[in-house]
Parts: sequence; structure tokens; C-alpha cells
Amino acid sequence: MATVDLKDVCKVYAGGVEAVKGVSIAIPDKALCVLVGPSGCGKSTLLRMIAGLETISAGSCAIDGKVVNTIGPTERDIAMVFQNYALYPHMKVYDNMAYGLRNRGTPKDEIDARVRSTAKTLELEHLLERRPRELSGGQRQRVAMGRAIVRNPKVFLFDEPLSNLDAKLRGQMRVEIKNLQRSLGVTSVYVTHDQLEAMTLADILVVMNAGLVEQSGSPLDIYEKPASTFVASFIGAPPMNLLPLRSGHLEGAVTLPPVPASASTLGFRPEDCEIRTEGADAVADGALRLLVEVEGVEPVGAESFVYCRVGGERMVVRVPGRVEIKPGDQLRTYARQEKLHFFGSDGKRV
Ligand SMILES: Nc1ncnc2c1ncn2[C@@H]1O[C@H](COP(=O)(O)OP(=O)(O)OP(=O)(O)O)[C@@H](O)[C@H]1O
Ligand SMILES: [Mg+2]
Repeated sequence: MATVDLKDVCKVYAGGVEAVKGVSIAIPDKALCVLVGPSGCGKSTLLRMIAGLETISAGSCAIDGKVVNTIGPTERDIAMVFQNYALYPHMKVYDNMAYGLRNRGTPKDEIDARVRSTAKTLELEHLLERRPRELSGGQRQRVAMGRAIVRNPKVFLFDEPLSNLDAKLRGQMRVEIKNLQRSLGVTSVYVTHDQLEAMTLADILVVMNAGLVEQSGSPLDIYEKPASTFVASFIGAPPMNLLPLRSGHLEGAVTLPPVPASASTLGFRPEDCEIRTEGADAVADGALRLLVEVEGVEPVGAESFVYCRVGGERMVVRVPGRVEIKPGDQLRTYARQEKLHFFGSDGKRV
């Protein structure tokens, strides 16, 4: 059982770098909270403050309702899994997993029972006598997870734990982590800059930008209602198309439904565009209509990305399957009115 509550947390590093500028996040018991954002936005700093590896310059961090600002990392009862695994190279898998428990003076029998049951959960039983260099990347990552799990901590912290793995293994491990986190029911904070990982893992998704929270909520809410152009272009691959309004250069190529008075940017997701060669008359009233010129087509298997220009702007259309479309083609595309997003000159949703 553990909740994690951050209130107006700030970090100013010696030297004056303001890495985190007032972050508040409430994580309920058993939830998996994902911090996502571009490089340097303060994700690791925030995680390290929760772990007790960095001091908190202002604000508070509470675990289970108890403020832990001045409590050392070992007393916080937290386990952290890093990107580079941080395994001890000279120790066998068994000893890597047992290390933290030995340090705490856990009885030998209990250590053995916990290491073996965790190894079983993670399918590491046959690897316990090996050293880290004798393991694959995915196995090393599992050992790092195992080392965190055996300690039976209140909170798991993950800092980009999968970024050293290839795409296929990353996908598998993502599912494993999610299942493991659910079955263990341990409150977790997970840092990544991979938006797919963020979307699929998170109960609560927190999008960070320059030391601040841009938006937090359920992954689907954020996907469907991004609070800013920053979030719109960060979540989703390919990202949301964003077209500046009122600049004149879209004239003739774009027919718009009524636009909110304060909007200066129009957004629509690549998958919300439809290409129609016939039956264009049947397109619903109020739809966005675009006349685009194709620049390139990327077939990625189950779907294709059609890269286009409209007026002077670039945009992408995502269509199922393969398409008979080639560079230079002129196409008409449509997006339904309810799929349109509008943003003001400050980048915020209107
Ligand atoms: N020990 C430090 N001393 C001074 N500045 C630091 C220190 N650690 C990080 N920073 C700065 O704080 C800011 C946030 O860094 P942080 O490592 O938290 O980013 P991040 O979001 O984890 O990025 P990445 O995705 O690249 O890992 C950056 O500008 C970074 O240069
Ligand atoms: Mg980082």
C-alpha cells in the first residue's frame, strides 16, 4: 500500500539550473504513473527526488501520506530500475538479486525463498548461476527488475528501463512490466520519452515540458483532448497535423467549418483524415476539406502514411492497408468536424 503525492516540487541544481519548476502529481495506490517528455524536461530529476537520490529544493514529496523530503533513500522503501540495469558485473544473477536483502540483514532462508520465487515469476530460474555478461539484454533487464521486486518495496521507480533493448524485445518487456506491476499491485512511477510506451503502460500519464506538467490524465483523454500544441505533437505517431490559420496561404486548398474566434492553429490526427476519390458529396456538413499534393507514401504494413502538402504546410494522412497513391498526386481529404482541435496563439487548447 502506498500513495505518492508531489506538491509544487522544485529542483534547482547547484549552478542554478532550474530542472523542475513546481510539479504536483497525486498517484493513487497501485497505480502506474508515466512521466513522458522531451530530453532535459526534468523527468529523471523528478524521479530521483522521489527516490531520495536528489534533494528537493522546494515543495513536498509524501509517500503514504508521510512527507519524506528529509528521509534518506534506504528508509523510503523504494526500488529503482535504471536504463543501464546497474547490475554488479562480478556477481552471479542470484547474488545480484540477493544483494539488497543481504544489506538489510534479511535472514538467509528468507532471501533464498524470495530470490527463487521472484526468479520463477520472471523466468530467470535457469540463469541464477550466470554473470550479467553471460546474459542477453532482455535477460539483464529482467534481473534488474527482479532485484527491485525481491525487496517487496512500497514503490517502484523506473527510469527508461527498456531503452537499451531492440524494438521487438521492448514490446515484449512492456507487456511483461505492465502485467507484473498489475499483479504485484505496487505503486509505480515510470519515466520514458517513448510516447507509445507511455500510452500503453500508464494509468496516469503526465506530459512534462521544460520542468513543468503540460497535461496529466488518462492516456486516452490526453490523446483525444490534448491541452496544447506541445502535447498534441508529442503524443501520437505520426503526430497530430497542425496548420496555422489566418495566414492566407491555405486559401483555396482548405475549406473550414466555423472556427472559434480565438483559434490560431487547427489540429487533426493523421488517422482522422479520409481520402475519397468518389462520393465526396456525401462528406458530412461542417467537415474540414483539404486539397493536398502528395509528397511521399510510406507503407508500414497494416497501414500507410501519406505525406502531403496543403498550401505551404506539411501534413500526414494515415490510411489502412496499401494505397495506389504516388508523389505528385492531387487528392481531396476530409476530417469530420468533431475530430478537429483548435489552439490559441499561446498554444493552449480553445
Ligand atoms: N546534476 C546536475 N547538475 C546540474 N544540472 C543537471 C544535473 N542533472 C540534470 N541537470 C539538468 O537538469 C535538466 C533536467 O535533466 P533531467 O536529467 O531530469 O532530464 P530528463 O527529462 O530525464 O532528460 P532525458 O530524457 O534526456 O533523460 C537538464 O537541463 C539537465 O541538464
Ligand atoms: Mg532522464
